[in-house]
Amino acid sequence: MGLLSKIFSVLNFSIKGLRYHSKSFIHKTAVLDNSFGGEISIGKNTEILNGVLILTYGGNINIGDNCSINPYSVLYGHGGLAIGNNVLIAAHCVIIPANHNFSEIEEPINKQGLTCKGIIIEDDVWLGTGCKILDGVTIGKGSIIGAGSIVTKSIPGNSVFVGNPAKFLKHR
Ligand SMILES: CC(C)(COP(=O)(O)OP(=O)(O)OC[C@H]1O[C@@H](n2cnc3c(N)ncnc32)[C@H](O)[C@@H]1OP(=O)(O)O)[C@@H](O)C(=O)NCCC(=O)NCCS
Repeated sequence: MGLLSKIFSVLNFSIKGLRYHSKSFIHKTAVLDNSFGGEISIGKNTEILNGVLILTYGGNINIGDNCSINPYSVLYGHGGLAIGNNVLIAAHCVIIPANHNFSEIEEPINKQGLTCKGIIIEDDVWLGTGCKILDGVTIGKGSIIGAGSIVTKSIPGNSVFVGNPAKFLKHR
């Protein structure tokens, strides 16, 4: 084993598809679940606070360094969720990279499968409390999403978006 891999193995833990840095904090009431497939990785100095749910549902969830995922937020993985570094996710946000298909009227929606594109949240993003981020969206580096917003389309960097659906408020 080379020196770098030795250092890596000291600083990181890996258990059945869950990898987190030893300098991250995961509150005892948070749930990290990849039992339906997919992997979870959590970077250095990232905190996962009270009651947060991180549920892969077959996709991978990667969270970078120095992030804060605040109480009772729910992060799903279905089509993939990539969160960069220095990202703040306030309490009660939901990030859901999946949609039910519903084109067939005669068939129950729950039998029609899912479309999953994935969600990317770039570095230095702040999601205010109670945001909902829908599938296929990228939130650009340095952007802010106001409390209670629903993001249905990609957001450019260094901008502030608010509302349902989230609309441009201003540049930073
Ligand atoms: C988005 C935000 C950062 C903007 O703050 P700001 O730059 O000081 O903006 P202002 O308060 O001057 O508001 C500007 C306009 O946007 C509107 N607005 C602000 N936040 C909004 C929101 N979340 N949803 C809808 N509209 C909002 C204001 O009503 C105001 O509208 P007006 O011009 O018609 O009066 C702030 O309002 C916000 O939502 N913060 C999140 C707080 C939070 O969740 N904290 C958790 C701590 S981690």
